[in-house]
Amino acid sequence: MKARTCLAIVLAAGEGTRMRSARPKVMHALAGRSMLVHVLAAVGAAGTTAAAVVVGPKQDAVAAEAKRVLPCAEIFIQHERKGTAHAVLAAKAAIARKKPDDVLIVFGDTPLIAPETLQRLRAPLAKGAAIAVLAFRPADPTGYGRVLVRDGAVVAIREEADASASERAIALCNGGIMALAGKHALSILEKIGNANRKHEFYLTDAVAIARGMKLAAVAVEGEEDDVRGINTKAQLAEAERLMQERLRRKALDAGVTLIAPETVFLSADTKFGKDVTVEPYVVFGEKVKVDDGAVIRSFSHLAGAHVGKAAIVGPFARLRPGATLHEDVHIGNFVEVKEAVIEAGAKANHLSYIGDATVGAGSNIGAGTITCNYDGAAKHRTEIGADVFIGSNSALVAPVKIGAGAYVGSGSVITGNVPAKALALGRSRQVIKEGWATRLKALKSLGRKKARAAE
Ligand code: UD1
Ligand code: MG
Repeated sequence: MKARTCLAIVLAAGEGTRMRSARPKVMHALAGRSMLVHVLAAVGAAGTTAAAVVVGPKQDAVAAEAKRVLPCAEIFIQHERKGTAHAVLAAKAAIARKKPDDVLIVFGDTPLIAPETLQRLRAPLAKGAAIAVLAFRPADPTGYGRVLVRDGAVVAIREEADASASERAIALCNGGIMALAGKHALSILEKIGNANRKHEFYLTDAVAIARGMKLAAVAVEGEEDDVRGINTKAQLAEAERLMQERLRRKALDAGVTLIAPETVFLSADTKFGKDVTVEPYVVFGEKVKVDDGAVIRSFSHLAGAHVGKAAIVGPFARLRPGATLHEDVHIGNFVEVKEAVIEAGAKANHLSYIGDATVGAGSNIGAGTITCNYDGAAKHRTEIGADVFIGSNSALVAPVKIGAGAYVGSGSVITGNVPAKALALGRSRQVIKEGWATRLKALKSLGRKKARAAE
């Protein structure tokens, strides 16, 4: 059987005033990516074949974010906020043009939605239902639309503002996400009016309208966490907690050793090989890959980095974007690596900054070494060959090349290239003044005697 085509319409026109932020609501991030990206990833994984994102009039940033992660997404602007059905109809052209088998409507502020739940919601459409609503039973139903069921069929959804006391007592609530059969979608949506308390065009009215057209509507039950909508920073933090729990569980199930999982913060895209150990209190920003057998020690912060096989990072290490560590590399405490390739077996164990550099295999970077990559205007590269020894507290002023097997004496400021196998010393020669301290003492006591005599 041919797979059904599916157009996902993501409603993201909300301003999110309750977030108390200049940033549009769906641009707030959890687990390293915006809510919008989480939602787009979920609809993508649920087998959608096209996507439309409905944004507000001044939300270019939201449109750009959608295009960045899903270039095929079409952007539609809802010029006035007149309700969820009105928002869906902003993307009317996409429904008319694509003629999808399924139309899946998802809110941009429900980042915890799981692809499996969306797939479950689509399933009844394949069996002839015109509408499937995602229902759930929240601990506190206040504020949600109630799902009215009669003789096993969903007959309507009543928004709380319009519900009677007995309807408000219904525990089954509307999660907001809805799937519609493509062939009926527009005829249903266009019949929705705004004769209600808020004078909004409610998407939820689609159910009663479908019933009136003798079409079937069904409810699919999901978990409260799946449809959790984010309106405030407190809800964002709560969603982050749930997301982190999911990600930690996934990492543990994949065989990663997390000694204290509750202290490790992951990104949705963190990738681990086999037998990786992560010690307590480690933060993984976006785009980190850790290969087999690597150990990430406590209090390290990684983002945009690739940690090679059996490498050891930390404690207290910082890997910034472009840090690429090959096999058996050691990056120790208070070492920062940015945009640098550290080849197999090389070590930088203490107090260093390695930026815009390559460090050859087997090289040793002494404590306190700094690659001076920035001259105030531009960045420059430091290229260190294989088996180089950089003495402690050296400054390598880029652009500079240190040939394979060379040595740099401690405390050097290296401003010119160093040939292979050479020794470079870039510091002033040591001076010894014999008996100097004794003479100083004598001068001091003479000074004191003179002062007393003058009193
Ligand atoms: C909606 C449902 C309600 C359900 C609840 C679940 C309707 C009418 N009601 O109510 O039954 O229980 O979600 O959380 O659908 N949006 C736009 N443009 C608009 C209006 C809304 O883009 O004109 C977007 C919002 O940004 C948001 C989503 O649609 O992402 C839902 O809107 P919201 O105002 O939160 O609806 P609720 O009142 O929560
Ligand atoms: Mg809401």
